[in-house]
Amino acid sequence: MKHVISAQQFDRQTIEELFKLATNLEQTPDNYCMKGKIMASLFYEPSTRTRFSFESAMLRLGGGVITTENATQFSSVSKGETLEDTIRTMNQYVDVIVIRHNEVGSAQKASAVSDIPIINAGDGAGQHPTQALLDLYTISREHNKIDGIHIAMIGDLKHGRTVHSLSYMLGMYDYISISFIAPKALQMKEEILQYLKEKNISYRMYSRIEDVISDVDVIYQTRIQKERFISIEEYQKYKGIYQITKQTVDAMKEDAIIMHPLPRVDEILYEVDNSAKAVYFKQVYYGLLIRQALLKTLLS
Ligand code: NCD
Repeated sequence: MKHVISAQQFDRQTIEELFKLATNLEQTPDNYCMKGKIMASLFYEPSTRTRFSFESAMLRLGGGVITTENATQFSSVSKGETLEDTIRTMNQYVDVIVIRHNEVGSAQKASAVSDIPIINAGDGAGQHPTQALLDLYTISREHNKIDGIHIAMIGDLKHGRTVHSLSYMLGMYDYISISFIAPKALQMKEEILQYLKEKNISYRMYSRIEDVISDVDVIYQTRIQKERFISIEEYQKYKGIYQITKQTVDAMKEDAIIMHPLPRVDEILYEVDNSAKAVYFKQVYYGLLIRQALLKTLLS
């Protein structure tokens, strides 16, 4: 594993080794292994968790960080520099690049000209593989297993890169069943459904949460991706369409969990936060462990 571009490049063994390392790093922190190494975070799109958790992970491992958020405005891209030239330049300064960009395929493009590892932290409406790793790690920590779970992915499945990567990665597990809950226009992409078929993953499409709520082990709620719609009017058709409320929580199985990659807008009400089923802030914490494990694996 040199670059981390897509979820499909992982296999189950690699994922499980990362999980083991993440848990080890929780028990025995390693503040030294990245000493003398530098990570660059190059973000062309907004981020809170992904950028800060990578940066925190690198610092906790003893490494250094240089960073630009809003790279479109604050890097030489504003003068017309290409992504490739930016990456070639960063190759002279750092040991690993974490990149988030608005174009699908941008991380792949960056990796083609990079001698140092490129980590895809979100390429437009494409993928977000490290989020899928931390999502699966959250499931394994909270449910003690991944095989056999029934997960409902809810919301903007068309534009949401987290659910794309998560679906691909679930394809490596056994007896998974996925319920895709979305309005028709925002349903899961055909190429991903095709992939799941090939992997023998059972999935069904729904338009209402009520249809599956009492049977799921995991709710994976997502934000309607406002920035991907062609107009604000188009976005407003779907804004607020699915909401997790206290009633939703009460209808779930006792040991079921609610996840969300965050940020949330209005799709999980604050009244849900105190429920033991709400694990979305634990998920943030697990992300820090996974990103430490990933950096250590890629750079050692
Ligand atoms: C997501 C993203 O940026 O794709 N957030 C994240 O990385 N945790 C989800 C989103 O923006 O809705």
